[in-house]
Amino acid sequence: MIVLAIESSCDETAAAVVESAEGGERAETDRLTAEALRPGSGQALRALRRTLREPVPPTSDPRLPTVLVLSDVVASQIEEHAPYGGVVPELASRRHLTAILPVIRRALADAERTLGDIDALAVTAGPGLVGSLLIGIQAAKAIAHAKRLPLVGVNHLAAHLLSSHLRRKSPVAVPPSAPSALPAPSAPPAPPSQRSSQRPQRLSGKSDLRALPSLPSLPSLPSAPSFPSLGLVVSGGHTALYAVQGPERFAQLAATRDDAAGEAFDKVGKLLGLPYPGGPAIDAAADGVEPGDLRFPRGLDRKDTLDFSFSGLKTAVADHLRARCEPPDRDEVRRVAAAFQESVVASLVKKSLLACERLCIPRLTLGGGVAANSALRRAMANACGAAGIALFLPARADCTDNAAMVGLAAVPRLLRGEDDGGALGARSSWPIG
Ligand code: KG4
Ligand code: ZN
Repeated sequence: MIVLAIESSCDETAAAVVESAEGGERAETDRLTAEALRPGSGQALRALRRTLREPVPPTSDPRLPTVLVLSDVVASQIEEHAPYGGVVPELASRRHLTAILPVIRRALADAERTLGDIDALAVTAGPGLVGSLLIGIQAAKAIAHAKRLPLVGVNHLAAHLLSSHLRRKSPVAVPPSAPSALPAPSAPPAPPSQRSSQRPQRLSGKSDLRALPSLPSLPSLPSAPSFPSLGLVVSGGHTALYAVQGPERFAQLAATRDDAAGEAFDKVGKLLGLPYPGGPAIDAAADGVEPGDLRFPRGLDRKDTLDFSFSGLKTAVADHLRARCEPPDRDEVRRVAAAFQESVVASLVKKSLLACERLCIPRLTLGGGVAANSALRRAMANACGAAGIALFLPARADCTDNAAMVGLAAVPRLLRGEDDGGALGARSSWPIG
């Protein structure tokens, strides 16, 4: 089955063509309630552990079918929003409107497919900016209607949670063996031999992975995480931990009580005078820097909750900068960036490992833009290695918003013949689990 997938939930217009190489069966076991997973609910927790340890019955295989990425195109609006220091919703909708068709055309061309080859469509239906979501949804509906194809709406968080399952014909390197300069959207696609359609094609303004600190190769891992796994989604809009029982079965364990981690990166980047978005800028600024005795608080640094908090940390950075008589010089910016990043990373690592330990799940996956962070990837790999937990990191380029993960998340429903059709709507809020 060949799926054309579309993503437009925030400030990235993306389209991908993915191919499901095999069928898969849906797990039929009961959905776990988030209530049962709340830390401190001893009895419920014991029951949950038992459920998770039970072998999966042979008739209910919670596998995600292997999905190959044939093309993956992302047009970023970062440059347009940078002067405002954040995403301007009205501007985002307008940009999606002009980008959506060229991006879809490019995804089809890169995959060497036409609309006639497409079997089904998938589109992000939420959570996100409604005006932005609607552009992707309307485009998907129009194609589905004209070609009489099934269309399913995908939850953006579920797509991030599953992104470590993405497979390309040739693996995307984890270290920044960066994407080369790309032709303009209107340029004809390169001949197949030169085209790296296995890597996301960044059409404009995307943060340059080459600017990020390099990382040592991670130890080779099994091809894809099995279920159940523990999933951390850490992005600009969300920071939450989930028990992932299958490709469509999630239970939220914990979440941030205030800012998302990516939001904290972006706000602190602004305080430090770094370019937008702050995440990659802080990552680069903090590379190789020892913060010395500068330490910022870690929000909710207790064992009785898996929840996160980052707004106090952001305030502590603001107070630190305000207490100085003069604006920070380059060295001080790097030192503050490193101390801030250290605090965020420590929280994310500590709570993720605590969740794995509590639920006795020795598999952890990461997803969302902040999962591209070098210090987080390094610290998580070290901590998981020491704790005997298998860590599954998406390639860095698959952490930020893309449509390949949307196609992947849609495959189980599409294989069952489901179709949301013309009734599909946009949802600004859409919790999972
Ligand atoms: O997943 P994503 O592309 O969009 C949302 O769903 O929110 O995540 C964007 C967020 C931004 O806040 C950005 O600053 C952050 O991910 N980010 C990073 C890095 N790359 C992107 N944060 C820390 N380090 C990075 N290397
Ligand atoms: Zn996202």
